Amino acid sequence: MNENAFDPTAWARLEGPSPMPGVEDRTEDRFSAWWDDAASAQIGVVGSPNSTERMSADILMDKTKESLVGEWVAIPFMQDGVDTLTVGQIMSVEMRNDLLEGTTARSVVSRLGKVPASASEDLYRAEIQVTATFARSSKEHSGAVLPSMMGTVPPSGTPVCLVDNAFIERLFAKQTDDLFFLGTAYSGAKGRRILLPTWVRHFRSGEGGAGDTYHMGIFGKTGSGKSVLAKLLLLGFARHPETSVFVLDPQGEFSRDAWNLPSSDEGFRLKWGEVAEKHFRKRLILVPLRNLVLDSWDLFKDVIGQAVLFQWLGYPRGEKRALAAELLSVHLQKGGFALRELASREAFDEVGKAVCDENFVRRIYATSESATAKLQQAVGYWEVPSMKEDLWRAWSSMASLFDDKRPGTVSVSALVEEVVTGGKVVVVNLSREGLEAGTSIAAGSHNILWNEEIQGMLILRLLSSLRERGEIAYLKGKRLNTMVILDEAHRFIPRGTLDGQKEAIRDLLVEASRETRKYGIGWLLVSQTLASLHQEVVSQLRVLLVGYGLNAGSELQALRELSGGDQRAVSIYQRFPDPHAALEPSSREYNFMLLGPISPLAFSGQPLFLSAFTDPHSFLFANGLEGGSSEPA
Ligand SMILES: Nc1ncnc2c1ncn2[C@@H]1O[C@H](COP(=O)(O)OP(=O)(O)O)[C@@H](O)[C@H]1O
Ligand SMILES: [Mg+2]
Repeated sequence: MNENAFDPTAWARLEGPSPMPGVEDRTEDRFSAWWDDAASAQIGVVGSPNSTERMSADILMDKTKESLVGEWVAIPFMQDGVDTLTVGQIMSVEMRNDLLEGTTARSVVSRLGKVPASASEDLYRAEIQVTATFARSSKEHSGAVLPSMMGTVPPSGTPVCLVDNAFIERLFAKQTDDLFFLGTAYSGAKGRRILLPTWVRHFRSGEGGAGDTYHMGIFGKTGSGKSVLAKLLLLGFARHPETSVFVLDPQGEFSRDAWNLPSSDEGFRLKWGEVAEKHFRKRLILVPLRNLVLDSWDLFKDVIGQAVLFQWLGYPRGEKRALAAELLSVHLQKGGFALRELASREAFDEVGKAVCDENFVRRIYATSESATAKLQQAVGYWEVPSMKEDLWRAWSSMASLFDDKRPGTVSVSALVEEVVTGGKVVVVNLSREGLEAGTSIAAGSHNILWNEEIQGMLILRLLSSLRERGEIAYLKGKRLNTMVILDEAHRFIPRGTLDGQKEAIRDLLVEASRETRKYGIGWLLVSQTLASLHQEVVSQLRVLLVGYGLNAGSELQALRELSGGDQRAVSIYQRFPDPHAALEPSSREYNFMLLGPISPLAFSGQPLFLSAFTDPHSFLFANGLEGGSSEPA
């Protein structure tokens, strides 16, 4: 993951003077003096063998009963005469007892049924993955903490200490504004949890910026906490004044709990919209689909293809219906109808004329018997007044989606303009609920067979418009600073062969994901699968957050590849408990493996393990956002 490597110069602006002549010899200022109680924090000593990436520690005798895998440790030592601290995570613990390895000894033990006291010297060794190294400049240089490198390995016998919250706080004291907390560091141990420092940076340079646009992905089985984590990240982005967040919400879930908490959900009850407005002064724009004006004939063809009209007329789905939609669209355009006029009685009459016209039907059905049958069906509908009235209602509610004169509506381009100006949070509710919202036409949505194809088409329309807007800005020498969040992304950007329309949508989305980074548009994709999300899109993700459940077959294989073949990291991942298997809801854990540059604890994007906050208060508190915004538990 080389291109992902964290760039230490990004800290320079935060830190002032660069390293670091003149060594301060006063030991009380050293890293080693940072622990409140270094003696009890010490769990081991540096053992052997060691490298600059992996170190081993011999665990102190009285700490061998503690659960240590996943714990964060720090090793203070001197390098080039400079006070240095290397930080890492315990990836595995191994026990050896050389005395017991021989067959004679083992047979004695098996006869005795216990280990004789003389042979009970078990040696525990922890393997540590080094993820970050820091150095402290001298007093004259303010004693600042700077990212450094392991150029050598601390000598054996150097103390290895557990990192605690106070230590983390002190280590990143100068970056507190930059950090955004999503949860604690996952460790096998229940009791001890340290806040995992992470950053959610915007795409420009300057304060809080990564200086580059990047895409992110959240993965995991249904119920693994992806959407909740996406909302926390949403707030992480919304925190930056100039950053906009554009949420494409196929399940309507982001829209629903921005302000209100559905009583059915016992889980993470955070009114994220309130936090965004109250604490980050963001303008929040929630757009139910019904309020979005569909503004292209392509969309019309798509929607009409799924509308009940053709179903009632007996046109089977697929090719025939697509052709009929195409012909009808051409027919109406030739008749001089604008999109906004489609919901008129005149347009409806024109539709009647078309589908009851032999020539129209013959272009769809080559054989005359089928053509005659379809024709009779259409004429039958149009001639019976009550049936015709039903059709009219179905037609007008569908066609009104294209009418930009409806009150309260917004066009796609106007909405995109909102997104890109002035740092807002815009959520488009693409669910059926969003289609029904506030509709004046009773049961309007039942007249459209709501499906992924239409949703995909709308997502494409919205993203293409955003991309065009980004391109215009780019040509003027500007870059947007916009994060797009797409929930349920696997449904729209799957891998493999698809049939016609879906494939076209997918391919265009893939292409867009490739292009938009240049314009300052990053994507946060939320997906149930890693293996079945389009490969090219996956390969573009710079930061991945992988929750519970990709434990088998191709999913695990894909995860292995993404984590650089790090088997120890993958086995920690595999030990995540299933949140749904928890005996009580309160003991549920929502853990994620993080890959990519998302934490100052992992310079080169080594895997990290996050246990997401399980209640809104901890989240708000850790990020200094207390004061309302969530319901008391
Ligand atoms: N960090 C968390 N703490 C507490 N409850 C959570 C957390 N993450 C998810 N949940 C709860 O678990 C359920 C599934 O979460 P959700 O984010 O919708 O999962 P996914 O999007 O992966 O299907 C919801 O009821 C949610 O409130
Ligand atoms: Mg979800």
